[in-house]
Order: sequence, then C-alpha cells, then structure tokens
Amino acid sequence: MNNESHPIGVFDSGYGGLTILKEFLNDFPEYDFIYLGDNARSPYGSRSFDVVYEYTLQAVRKLFDMGCHLVILACNTASAKALRTIQQKDLPLIDPNRRVLGVIRPAVESIGEITKNGHVGILGTAGTVASNSYPIELKKWAGEIVRETTQEACPMWVPLVENNEIDTPGADYFVKKNIDNLLQKDRQIDTIVLGCTHYPLLVPVIRKFIPDGIQVVEQGKIVSNKLADYLKRHPEMDQKISKQGQVRYYTTETESIFEQRAGLFINRAIKAEKLILR
Ligand code: DGL
Repeated sequence: MNNESHPIGVFDSGYGGLTILKEFLNDFPEYDFIYLGDNARSPYGSRSFDVVYEYTLQAVRKLFDMGCHLVILACNTASAKALRTIQQKDLPLIDPNRRVLGVIRPAVESIGEITKNGHVGILGTAGTVASNSYPIELKKWAGEIVRETTQEACPMWVPLVENNEIDTPGADYFVKKNIDNLLQKDRQIDTIVLGCTHYPLLVPVIRKFIPDGIQVVEQGKIVSNKLADYLKRHPEMDQKISKQGQVRYYTTETESIFEQRAGLFINRAIKAEKLILR
C-alpha cells in the first residue's frame, strides 16, 4: 500500500472487529482495508463514556491520517459511546467529507425481519447495555415490530475471548449464567442479538445453553451487507476507496501477540505493525 491508498478503516478495541473484517474481505475482495485493534487498552466495555470516546477518536484520527476516508467502528461499545459525538461534533471540524459508521444501526435495522414475536434479547458489554443504544435504536427503527427489548451485560465474555479461554469450564460458567439471566427476564425472547463483535467466537458455547428455536444474530454478515448498500448509495465515497485487495493490520499491543491470536479469528496468516495511539 502506498501513500496514495485510501483503504476502509476498521476499528475495534481488540480482536472482535476481525469477525466483521472477515465478512468484508469475503464480500469486497478487491478493496483495501486497514484493521486497527487497540489491544493494549482493551477491553473498552467497562470504561467510562469519556474514555471510550477519547480512545475511539484517537483511533479515528489515526486511520484518517493513514488515508482512510471511511472508518467503520467494528465495536458496539465504541459505536454506542463515541459514534454520535464523533459524527456530530468532530467530523465537521476534522473533514466533513470523511465518514465514520458503526455496527449498531445495521443490526437494529435487520431485527424486524428476524423476530417473529417481537421479544428481543441483547447481549453486550456493560458499556453498551448502560448506553441503552439498542433499546433506543430498536424503538426508532423497528418500533412497529419489536415490542420488548431485554438486555444483559456480559462483562466476562470479552476477557474470555481476548485471553483465549473460550474452550474452558470458565467460559461455560459465565456464558450459561448470562444466558440464564437474560431468559429469566423475558421468557418469550425468540431472538438474541450478539451486541458485541467479540461474541461470535463464543457461539459454540452460547448454543449449548440456548433453547432450540431462539435465533442468535451475529453482526458480521449484516454489517457487510449494509456496507455494500451504503457504497451503492454513495458512489462518491466508493470511488475514493483504493482497490488493490490489500489488507494491513495494526495493533497497540506487541505485534507478535496480535499475529498469533488474530489469525485464529480470521483464518489467515497475519503480519501486524505496532502503533501508539495518543
Ligand atoms: N468488540 C467490542 C464490542 O463490540 C468489545 C468491547 C470491549 O472491548 O469491551 O463491544
């Protein structure tokens, strides 16, 4: 990638956004991408609004400096706590022609087509749940169909994924505990949204504890379809994105740690570079 390249930036607090990037690479093989994981400061889920906003803005600025005109916050926590302020307050000052999009709205818009009885469960980080972004957005975009939205914060799930503890009795314990809590709050739930991009890695564990008949919604494919739709509606943005099929990976952690782990999430060999966000 040279200085003229204008990749799509994909940002997450850690590895979770790779579950979104994986779908982008399938659907947009010729597009250039930069993935940035703030692994050194992950998880974001338990951090305050101010801190998530500050860290996310640093990442967005860095991706802009690296040539991105379009950045996707492939992180629900950052989408919930930072996206709106960045869109409304920062973008007009930084460059009104650049765009930052999130992952909550695409998921919300798809729920109306999935739930049969309008009872939806949201699993997310403490931050995403506290922001109430899902209930608010569901009311706004699927209010006719979604009658009841119930949330459950799963503060241990991201650390389980980030620390490669997926296939352990510890993961079973915490996943079961949160699923049981959610289903106790509303026994009619027929659709559960994995409102955190790390959670698809836990799907085999989640399925062990979810009764048959309940749909589990992962965001990757949904977000990728919405990106295709966005680029079709915004040809001026599509034209700016460079298309040499190149992907670069950046992490705020030591490269070797990221390379070892990230490959497992996305099924490909990864070469990463370390950068510092400030
Ligand atoms: N992948 C992020 C999300 O979707 C994880 C947040 C965290 O770092 O706690 O919310």
